[in-house]
Amino acid sequence: MNEMGLDLTGKVALVTGGSRGLGKAIAMAMAGKGAHVVICGRKQENLDQAVADLHEKGVEVAAFRANVGLPDEVANLFQSIEARFGKLDILVNNVGMNILTPSVAMADDGLWDKIITTNLKGTFLTSRGAVPLMRKVGRGKIINISSIAARKAAMGMGIYCVAKAGVDMLTRVLAVELAQDHITVNAVAPCMVRTQFSQPFWSNESLLKQIAAGIPMGRIAEPDDVVGTVLFLSSDLADFVTGEIMTVDGGAMA
Ligand SMILES: NC(=O)c1ccc[n+]([C@@H]2O[C@H](COP(=O)([O-])OP(=O)(O)OC[C@H]3O[C@@H](n4cnc5c(N)ncnc54)[C@H](OP(=O)(O)O)[C@@H]3O)[C@@H](O)[C@H]2O)c1
Repeated sequence: MNEMGLDLTGKVALVTGGSRGLGKAIAMAMAGKGAHVVICGRKQENLDQAVADLHEKGVEVAAFRANVGLPDEVANLFQSIEARFGKLDILVNNVGMNILTPSVAMADDGLWDKIITTNLKGTFLTSRGAVPLMRKVGRGKIINISSIAARKAAMGMGIYCVAKAGVDMLTRVLAVELAQDHITVNAVAPCMVRTQFSQPFWSNESLLKQIAAGIPMGRIAEPDDVVGTVLFLSSDLADFVTGEIMTVDGGAMA
């Protein structure tokens, strides 16, 4: 076993959607372990804000604007990373979104494409983009942020559930395809995490109580509850773990 454990010194890590929420917490934790961290997102103002917030906490990250659902922007993102750092060791596919809608009675058919593209195709595009840079290093770690919604249908989140189920299978498929390259591919599946994404749920006190009642540990997750598992999977400690979906849910799925 590598005694350095969770040390990420000298590693280059891309955290997609690192400008707020869970991605920002992961970016901060990885930088704290010595990694050179790159974040990306669609909106420059969110990236600027995140870079400034993290700088105030003594953490320096690089930020590149990119929509993970758009192949050209993903290609530019990896070109920028190669130009700046020359390699990539870790990819955290953290971008995810949902628009609350029933599936069958969906008012706008475009929602299907938007939700599937952002959550699933985006995870594929960035993984595909990362592989050549990881092959240069001779190894790599891909960690996909899935959800317990991949295994448990939730009202208003049907398309998101389907997309995240796709992310789980993509995790297994890429784990098998990339094992020979010493690139591990795993996923982390949280329950509700207190971020902007889930605010409509946790900001309603009675709804929050109802959700917490379904979680044996009696509360929803904070971003920091999820970070440790992502760090583990991105470290040398997890070198022989691949194709795994690690649930971080206070026992909700137990
Ligand atoms: N919060 C929860 O309850 C929960 C539970 C289980 C799993 N998850 C998963 O955890 C991950 C992080 O979610 P979160 O709660 O931290 O979400 P969040 O607070 O909404 O943050 C999403 C981040 O992704 C960026 N983003 C959104 N669409 C993008 C795109 N197409 N291309 C590039 N960046 C994009 C956003 O920045 P811009 O808006 O500037 O693009 C932002 O930085 C997601 O995969 C989500 O599905 C969340």
